[in-house]
Amino acid sequence: MRRIACLLTVLIMLLVSCSTETGKDVVLLDTGWKFSTGDDMTWGNPSFNDSGWDNINPMETWEKQGHKKYDGFAWYRIRQVIPRSMIKTAFLKDSIIFRLGKIDDCDQVFLNGALIGENGTTMAMNSLPSADFNKIWGKWDLNRNYVLSVNDPRIQWDKENVIAVRVFDFSGPGGMFSQPFEIAMPGLKDYVRFDLTSSPYDFEGENILKKNIVIKNISGKNEFKGNLVIRAVEQEGGIGLYTEKTGIDLTPGLIIDKQISFKTSFDKAVNLFICFTEATTGKQICDTVDVPRILTPKPPKGPRITGAKVFGVRPWSPFQFKVTATGEGRLKYTALDLPAGLKINEDDGVITGVLKKKGEFIVKLKVENHLGFCERDLKIVVGDVISLTPPLGWNSWNCWGLSVSDEKIRQSADAMKSSGLSDHGWTYINIDDGWEYMHDKDGNILTNSKFPNMRALCDYVHSLGLKIGIYSSPGRKTCGGYEGSLGFEEKDVQHYAAWGIDYLKYDWCSYSEVAPDPTPEQLKYPYQVMRRALRNVNRDIHYSLCQYGMGDVWKWGASVDGNSWRTTGDIEDTWESLSLIGFSQDKCSPYSAPGRWNDPDMLVVGRVGWGPSLHNTRLTPEEQYTHITLWSLLASPLLIGCDLTQLDAFTLSLLTNDEVLAVNQDPLGKQAIQVKKTGEYEIWIRDLEDGSKAVGLFNKTEKAMNIPVEMKALTLDGKCQMRDLWVQKDLGQVCRHFEMKTWPHGARLIRLSK
Ligand code: GAL
Repeated sequence: MRRIACLLTVLIMLLVSCSTETGKDVVLLDTGWKFSTGDDMTWGNPSFNDSGWDNINPMETWEKQGHKKYDGFAWYRIRQVIPRSMIKTAFLKDSIIFRLGKIDDCDQVFLNGALIGENGTTMAMNSLPSADFNKIWGKWDLNRNYVLSVNDPRIQWDKENVIAVRVFDFSGPGGMFSQPFEIAMPGLKDYVRFDLTSSPYDFEGENILKKNIVIKNISGKNEFKGNLVIRAVEQEGGIGLYTEKTGIDLTPGLIIDKQISFKTSFDKAVNLFICFTEATTGKQICDTVDVPRILTPKPPKGPRITGAKVFGVRPWSPFQFKVTATGEGRLKYTALDLPAGLKINEDDGVITGVLKKKGEFIVKLKVENHLGFCERDLKIVVGDVISLTPPLGWNSWNCWGLSVSDEKIRQSADAMKSSGLSDHGWTYINIDDGWEYMHDKDGNILTNSKFPNMRALCDYVHSLGLKIGIYSSPGRKTCGGYEGSLGFEEKDVQHYAAWGIDYLKYDWCSYSEVAPDPTPEQLKYPYQVMRRALRNVNRDIHYSLCQYGMGDVWKWGASVDGNSWRTTGDIEDTWESLSLIGFSQDKCSPYSAPGRWNDPDMLVVGRVGWGPSLHNTRLTPEEQYTHITLWSLLASPLLIGCDLTQLDAFTLSLLTNDEVLAVNQDPLGKQAIQVKKTGEYEIWIRDLEDGSKAVGLFNKTEKAMNIPVEMKALTLDGKCQMRDLWVQKDLGQVCRHFEMKTWPHGARLIRLSK
């Protein structure tokens, strides 16, 4: 039985991988491109002589081909015969598609001198070229597919055609860089679309999973009849959990939104497959996704104290620390041995006051509910260094981008509380770029109309027991083109302090106008200026350096009193970005310490978007386990980047595992080191305060694999107790060697103690 099920899975996988349709109905545009920087609208004309232009490979950005650091306009041109015979062999004969891959950042495409499309959207046939490109984030990541009718007079069948691409690059890499480059007749995949990712998974009761699946025919003309198969299969053993086979008639424009539901235990790895087979041709289009597994157990009903075990504060600074805890019903918070000058609010656990002298205090926290009580020590360190554990919070950028507003910040703070996240230690609500207006004639920083009253907003966030962060740049402008702090540092910080800001992200960006090729001293300088300003106000403000790792910032971030520093460029919600950033952090490990954190950028789980419209993260569920596991081991600030008002059960489970978060918050503050790296897997290990070790096993392949672990390589010998932190279960004793199963791009997180 098990065997048959396995065979079935393999068969389905084969079908999935067979779904690409290629044939004589495709003309490749991989080679033959000409290129010039600059801009001249006559370069779109077919008669223009481009023989003096450079050759260029469309697979690589122009930076990699002799145009280092070039931002601005550039043109690509190619000549290509389009054979009419393509139509004959094609399955669908009414239109033709120009596929030009991804283009960084914006493009306009001309066919024989006439505009056929721009910016990655299919354009109305006669639209005129826009005078310039709007700055729209994220366009670089769209596949350019420009569709024309086969009767379009702009196509020269059986003759040479000239395709000219006008590109504008705002910053970073520029130009064409990603396949496919081709002219093709459309296939089933261009019209029949599945959506397995937009709707959330509903985990009902103990074991019913519900999910909406959308099947669309986006063609306005073509009808497709055939068979639809939907299957849910448990990965281990290939056990079928759900099968549906139906004949369907996809009439033009039809959208089918159907719910499937099946029985499963929520911690099992399950694949969902969907296939449509067109009846007359047998052509097939398939898709598959991993169903998220929920590993985090529900917190106990009795009280449990969560969050940081150590808190740093400077003498005389206003003290705010919220004791966080889970538990059913009303919780009562008390603290024994609180130093003079502090008091705790019994209802919400917020400790406030002022401590005037340097020193260390151990406070005995107690949280009670109707089922019992729980106690834990909190160490308070009054000294120069704050943020003794990495900040846990949320930041607006990966979610709202520049469309952030007062209302969205309030909603996020409310959701931080109502979702229960704040009960697990999540504290900061950080406003990223997009709040600034200008400095007035007296040098006061003014907020823009989206933030009518910053002081009231900060008060509101504090009233929920949370903290609030803000963003600025040492340059004239921020990355988003808003007002920066250059020349106004002292005054800006006075405003931040008066408003009640607790966190500052300070983003290099247009400081490159001041220091285009910065020396090591120039890299530090603007951060020293801001550091002085921060020390001149009577408020503890977490100082987050954002300059993408330039000059190995991890080596000197502490010398400018940074509490954290970005070690990389911006993260994206893809495996490429996540794994490239995450697995390259070993070099920074020696420099991490309490109050001095390496920051590999914010989290990309949940619904993200960098602007007004959001999408579910493109990371698979297992990749999201890798993300949280690795970032916890790296002692990274954890800043959630998704819309907190739309958290689904899976995302919430990822962010509320107290044993995983305890690794991130471990008071020893030592970042994990990489102890094993092969092409297929990695093992990272982190020393914890109680002498135990947190170990992360990461599968970098696309297949499930057992990762072998030699205890010697972990500098552990002899018997150890092993605990699986995601499921919060003891796994017994291990001695010299053990193996653990990991899913594709997935992770395991265990703790080993003597
Ligand atoms: C980038 C930074 C992002 C975000 C953005 C705002 O430089 O890395 O995290 O802050 O600027 O414009």
